[in-house]
Amino acid sequence: MAEFFRRALKKLDKLNNEQSSELLVSAVEGISLFENVLNSIDVGILVCDQEDNLVMVNKSAQRLIPMNYVEGVQISYAIKDERITEIFRDILLNREKVADREIDIEQQGRKRLLSVNVVPMVRDHKITGSIIYIEDITEKRQGEARLRRAENLASLTTLAAGLAHEIKNPLGSLSIHLQLLQKALSKNHSSDSKTDKYFDVIKEEVERLNRIVVDFLFAVRPMNLELREGDINALILQIMEFVRYEMEQSNILCMLELDENLPKILIDERYMKQALLNLIKNAKNAMPKGGVFTVATNFADNEIRISICDTGIGISKENLAKIFEPYFTTRETGTGLGLTQVYKIIREHQGEIIVDSTPGTGAEFKIILPMPQKETRLLAYNGGVEK
Ligand SMILES: Nc1ncnc2c1ncn2[C@@H]1O[C@H](COP(=O)(O)OP(=O)(O)O)[C@@H](O)[C@H]1O
Ligand SMILES: [Mg+2]
Repeated sequence: MAEFFRRALKKLDKLNNEQSSELLVSAVEGISLFENVLNSIDVGILVCDQEDNLVMVNKSAQRLIPMNYVEGVQISYAIKDERITEIFRDILLNREKVADREIDIEQQGRKRLLSVNVVPMVRDHKITGSIIYIEDITEKRQGEARLRRAENLASLTTLAAGLAHEIKNPLGSLSIHLQLLQKALSKNHSSDSKTDKYFDVIKEEVERLNRIVVDFLFAVRPMNLELREGDINALILQIMEFVRYEMEQSNILCMLELDENLPKILIDERYMKQALLNLIKNAKNAMPKGGVFTVATNFADNEIRISICDTGIGISKENLAKIFEPYFTTRETGTGLGLTQVYKIIREHQGEIIVDSTPGTGAEFKIILPMPQKETRLLAYNGGVEK
């Protein structure tokens, strides 16, 4: 484009008024296109001449670093931060390409990380100034750190899962040989109530170890959900039938408040049942002296909500932050993997789980399951057509 104007300028004396003004209009259009591009990108750009006077600064640069830009002013006067001015002075002094110099600054109380690069501005094979470009790399860095952490965790999990799997086999063998040993002893009439008691303890401990390993593997292994249309209310009724007797034996009153208009939803029934059962078991464990246990469902805003509520011991504020962590338990016989499983199952169903608790009063676990996205989208689409 510049070449076209250069040629037109040479013929300026031959142009009439109308042609000149047309030329001017297209020059203005060209410049505003250039400005639009520069101001639309989120990389900050500062252009200096050889005396370090600012020739051009785009909007992003003014947003990224504190400055008061006036065309032609020295860069060190324009920038309102001593430290950045110092760094820029240092960079410009070198006059050569500076790559990826990082600066951390504070913007409205938030820490940001900027990457600064300088390249010489070259015109007709001569250096006529410098172009400084600044990028905000805060999110990129945080993303990288998150990814690294996730990768570390994933490899640790794979390692631990492998180890757990290896432990399972000898445990199985231990359990079988224990039975054989007990049989052999009783055949020889060498067992008595004392040895039987020892056997019981060993068996119980082997069983406990086995449960820890099985639960751990369940918690860390990827799930292959088999999603089918399921009825959450029916699932709850099924589980309640199974646990009601045990609850009532512990002086727990069971209440159901199920929304009759609950739509069917894509779930893996086996896993969902496991999640609900874990929550119900926890509620029971929280009410050793009895209490009221309520399961409620409802459907609103395209979400199915399941609330599991107890009037038990509740969860302290400090523990609330930890309960979903693997192995966190306050119970003597707990594994601390129940809620880890629940969290994982609900997340795999694209859902959310929220806990609300007042120590001494009870706890409420709320599961929120969005209706399948396909259906939601269809609803939104139909809504659009009707309007
Ligand atoms: N309904 C509840 N009321 C009070 N505390 C609870 C409840 N559910 C879970 N917790 C707390 O969360 C911890 C972790 O639960 P969970 O992962 O199921 O492991 P576990 O039941 O083996 O302890 C429990 O030890 C308990 O402290
Ligand atoms: Mg539990």
